[in-house]
Amino acid sequence: MIAIGCDHGGFELKQEILKYLEEQNLTYKDYGCYDTASVDYPEYAKKVANAVVSGEAEKGILICGTGIGISIAANKVKGIRAALCHDCFSAQATREHNDANILAMGGRIVGPGLAVKIVDIFLHTPFSEDERHIRRISQIEDER
Ligand code: RB5
Repeated sequence: MIAIGCDHGGFELKQEILKYLEEQNLTYKDYGCYDTASVDYPEYAKKVANAVVSGEAEKGILICGTGIGISIAANKVKGIRAALCHDCFSAQATREHNDANILAMGGRIVGPGLAVKIVDIFLHTPFSEDERHIRRISQIEDER
C-alpha cells in the first residue's frame, strides 16, 4: 500500500498522482487533505510518515507547495527518509542510495507529466543493498 498526503498547495498535483496510481492498479490510502482549503502540512506529513514507519504502508508520497515543509516535517519521524525530488535522476538515486521511503514533491514546482514519471521511478526502483549505502543509512539512524 502507498500512503499519500498533501496540503492545499499540493492538492491538485495529488489528484494527478492518484489517477496514475489507479491506472497502475496500485493500492493506496489517501490521508488528505481533500480540497484546496488552507491547512497545515505537518499534520499530513505525520499521518503519512506514521503509516510508513508502522509498516501499514510500504512507501509514502507527500506533496505541498514546494515539497520542502512537508519533507522537513516527515523527516522528524524516526525511520523516515523523505526525499524531495523534482527530477528523475534524484528519484532513482534516492531509492538506490538512500532507500528513501517517502517521496516529497512541490505542486507549485513540478508539472503533472514529470511528477508522474518521478513517482513511477520512485516506486519501481529497488534499493541497491550495497554495503556502503547500508552503512551510511545506519549512521543517519544512529544520530536520532
Ligand atoms: C503553503 O502556502 C506552503 O507554505 C506549503 O505548501 C509549502 O510550500 C511549505 O513548505
